[in-house]
Amino acid sequence: MASDTVFQPSFGNKPDKIVGREAVTEGILSGLGMRPGHRDRATLVIGQRGMGKTALLLEIADQALDRGFIAARVAASANMLDEIVETVQIKGSPFVKERKSKIKGFNAGALGFSFGLTFSDEVASNYGFRTKLSLLCDKLAENDKGILLLIDEVQANTDDMRTLATTYQHLVGEGKNIAIVMAGLPTAVSSVLNDNILTFLNRARKVRLEPLSLEPIRVYYRLTFNALRKEFPSELLDEAVSATRGFPYLLQLVGYYLEEYSAGSASIDDGMVSDAIASAKRDLEADVFATTLKPLSDTDVKFLEAMAVDEGPSKVSDIQARLGVSAGYVQSYRARLIEAGVVASERRGELELVVPYLGEYLRNRE
Ligand SMILES: Nc1ncnc2c1ncn2[C@@H]1O[C@H](COP(=O)(O)OP(=O)(O)OP(=O)(O)O)[C@@H](O)[C@H]1O
Ligand SMILES: [Mg+2]
Repeated sequence: MASDTVFQPSFGNKPDKIVGREAVTEGILSGLGMRPGHRDRATLVIGQRGMGKTALLLEIADQALDRGFIAARVAASANMLDEIVETVQIKGSPFVKERKSKIKGFNAGALGFSFGLTFSDEVASNYGFRTKLSLLCDKLAENDKGILLLIDEVQANTDDMRTLATTYQHLVGEGKNIAIVMAGLPTAVSSVLNDNILTFLNRARKVRLEPLSLEPIRVYYRLTFNALRKEFPSELLDEAVSATRGFPYLLQLVGYYLEEYSAGSASIDDGMVSDAIASAKRDLEADVFATTLKPLSDTDVKFLEAMAVDEGPSKVSDIQARLGVSAGYVQSYRARLIEAGVVASERRGELELVVPYLGEYLRNRE
């Protein structure tokens, strides 16, 4: 996809504008103003695929500096701990003032550092994550900066997550100016957890990324197409906005195709809108449905198909009747699929699909 478009439907990028997440962003950033160790300094963001977790972390990373924090954003992966240390060193060094030594040619590094945020050889080779992060906290604190860890794609049960949880708690215990925001899929944090990580995650403030309200999407589309000098009749604008269902990835997809299909025209017509919505749904199927359904068993999918018969929420009793199974059977699949983040239960005795358009897709496919 061309890079000179306003809309960028891909995963893990920073959108042109973060729409409709002001309250969430502000809530997390205001936690940074609390004393070290305050519960609001540790946040766990949970959201479905495409709900905007990575975009949110990128936004928070940008705004953190104004609040006096050096942000290290990493994805939970094999090298997570090393990456955290290196990112803090790179992003933090412009803010570290060297103390000038009176002896010419001699650089008086602080304890543990050879210069700036570069560790002395001794520290670099003999000490681990905890000591290094602790030293970085101290050195940055001398320069009035804290450290904000942003951990994307959290996978709860890994050795690195365990080390990270222990280290964070340890540094907080020492009163260091550190904070953490983690983001992951509902499944990543609800599987069987190691005690230590579980305690850590349970103590964190939880933020669930819900679909965006339609009004800010409407405002964003209106301003964007206005700036592109395209007339966007109000009823067509409404149609495009409601087609997104508040799903950030769809906001980008629908916007992208509207931009493409209206290239060279001074106004947007209804053909462009319906084509854009159709193309966006096609991409959604390929990018999101495929990955959502892949880890599920055939029986899970049959359960979803039994739900998809209904256009809105399904009654659990109807699902049971359609599948011709026992109540206990339905209960166990219900629990599995809620845990997988594919369905939700907003009201007692009811279940609904949480991924937009998945119901239509399951209903219409052969
Ligand atoms: N608040 C927002 N406003 C506008 N666009 C957004 C917003 N949040 C996310 N997007 C866009 O939606 C798409 C999906 O967002 P993102 O990659 O952050 O989702 P995610 O939750 O991290 O998904 P995954 O679980 O696959 O990692 C991206 O193109 C991103 O730019
Ligand atoms: Mg992501």
